[in-house]
Amino acid sequence: MTKVPMVDIYISGKKYLVPSTLTIMNAMEYAGFQLKRGCGCRAGFCGACATVYRIAGNNELKVGLACQTKVEANMFLAQIPFFPALKGIYNINNLPPTAASIALYYPEIYRCIGCGSCTKVCPQNINVMQYIAHAQRGEIAQCATKSFDCIMCGLCASRCPVHIVQYHVAILARRLYSRHLLPQASHLKQRVMEIKEGKYEAELRQLMKLSSDELRIIYNNRNIEE
Ligand code: FES
Repeated sequence: MTKVPMVDIYISGKKYLVPSTLTIMNAMEYAGFQLKRGCGCRAGFCGACATVYRIAGNNELKVGLACQTKVEANMFLAQIPFFPALKGIYNINNLPPTAASIALYYPEIYRCIGCGSCTKVCPQNINVMQYIAHAQRGEIAQCATKSFDCIMCGLCASRCPVHIVQYHVAILARRLYSRHLLPQASHLKQRVMEIKEGKYEAELRQLMKLSSDELRIIYNNRNIEE
């Protein structure tokens, strides 16, 4: 049996010896931590596991998702279980899909200095700076579609020198887009009624018996409504 090399990592300043093949999240559990916060899907989708780290001897402060980033020797770790960003509270029905609506809750978008830190740090490889430019110009559809893969991990905001909360801007754009600009799916009411009547119960039960891999295949091959 091949032996997995072990590496030292530091969690909250304390040293732990862990297998080098693990992700940060698995390494924390290997070290004995029970993760109740800062841990969700474990597959890079939910954005709950944003982590800040630094490798000894290197002054660069790095960030990543704990469930997707492999440990490295002499990694100093700190998790961000919750990013304390300012979040606008609004009634989407009363908000027109314009730049002014976004600026009302997130005026700091106009302070963007174009440094690109948000784009560089995004674990989803989204061009964050570009969708903020769309928000500034009131291009709601572009802002919404270009930020579609955002998982709300907050890493963009953690790096922004002018304190833009990019991921909240993006979700506001997506809400404005779907509430006011996209045509309503005509069959939606009908589908909701069918769900309430239990039409899909058997199918749901069947899905619940499948493994993650089987579910992933079905999800990736699903029909996406126009
Ligand atoms: S736990 Fe969901 S993205 Fe890492």
